[in-house]
Amino acid sequence: MAGVRLEHLAKAYDKGPLVIRDVNIDIKDKEFVVLVGPSGCGKSTLLRMIAGLESITGGHLYIGDRRVNEVPASERDIAMVFQNYALYPHMTVFENMAFGLKLRGLPKEEIRQRVEKAARMLEIETLLDRRPKDMSGGQRQRVAIGRAIVRNPQVFLFDEPLSNLDAKLRGQTRIELQKLHRELNATMIYVTHDQVEAMTLGDRIVVLRNGDVMQQDTPLNLYNHPANQFVAGFIGSPPMNFLPGRICADGPLRFESRGGMLGIDLSEYPQAATLRAYQGKPVVLGIRAEHIRRRPGPNERRFFRRLVPVEAVENMGSETMVYFPLETQRFIARLSADYPIPADQPLDLFWDLGKLHFFDAETEVAIR
Ligand SMILES: Nc1ncnc2c1ncn2[C@@H]1O[C@H](COP(=O)(O)OP(=O)(O)OP(=O)(O)O)[C@@H](O)[C@H]1O
Ligand SMILES: [Mg+2]
Repeated sequence: MAGVRLEHLAKAYDKGPLVIRDVNIDIKDKEFVVLVGPSGCGKSTLLRMIAGLESITGGHLYIGDRRVNEVPASERDIAMVFQNYALYPHMTVFENMAFGLKLRGLPKEEIRQRVEKAARMLEIETLLDRRPKDMSGGQRQRVAIGRAIVRNPQVFLFDEPLSNLDAKLRGQTRIELQKLHRELNATMIYVTHDQVEAMTLGDRIVVLRNGDVMQQDTPLNLYNHPANQFVAGFIGSPPMNFLPGRICADGPLRFESRGGMLGIDLSEYPQAATLRAYQGKPVVLGIRAEHIRRRPGPNERRFFRRLVPVEAVENMGSETMVYFPLETQRFIARLSADYPIPADQPLDLFWDLGKLHFFDAETEVAIR
């Protein structure tokens, strides 16, 4: 097994613009790293560069200690699982899984052992004689993973392998992939545009936007300490609530919303000193839906209280989502489902000041 190191990696297709810009990621041996970002941000391009399926325009790519920029795909000891599975329709499951090993000239008996072992791991040992068209999407998906496993590669690459599955099967397969990662003890790089998949699978997540790395960290650190407004809005569901405004520090420290409807006393805000430097400057306030509550905690002074008109209520069973307008924005509060919330009455809500985020409105960088 081996780690993968991307140093100042860059990519332009033909003579076009850079679609990957100065990407630096150090993936440790046996780590599960997820690349996540909106459509077109460069996830597949980056993965294909690692696999050797796309040329590298600039920078260095290492697998283990070996620089592999010019090494052909077949010599990189990497297995890739594609979104569309790319199975051979005329071959059985066994033949599909054995194909790569046969090409490499492995003895028949070893091929059989490897395929059967992988099939047991993936619980498809009873399907080995079937052809892909006679199986469900989830089963085909496992065959595609099995084909990667039998090769016993140094690194596994996955490009949105679950996106053709329905929600329930996606959830199950996520858990199986976690187990598989533990059993194989292998380095895995996984691409998805689904932040829930990223949060649940990755030891570490790399958030990409337009070919740039926005932030890379553990799922919880990304969630609790987003480095910028993009990550704050992308990681987490529902997305973080945002409200543009400015910092006033001529008297007690305050946030004032752009429309002037909202003033929050920030003297109790834990990082008040840092915010003072933003006196008079435009900022964006951020607060997650679960940090707006129906009643304050024991320390009432740490909360900002506000009566809001309720626009819509969604009862999810375990919790209740309440939508309310705030100037030009629509806010969401995630409340306990213990008490019913009438949609036609204003609701008294408490914002946890300790959980507020602030972003520089010009650079979108988090103010810390
Ligand atoms: N073969 C190609 N030739 C020219 N441009 C390309 C090519 N493949 C991708 N691109 C461009 O590179 C950028 C990144 O594409 P890429 O496929 O890596 O995005 P992605 O993050 O995988 O998106 P998605 O989530 O939709 O799969 C896009 O702007 C895309 O249009
Ligand atoms: Mg893609």
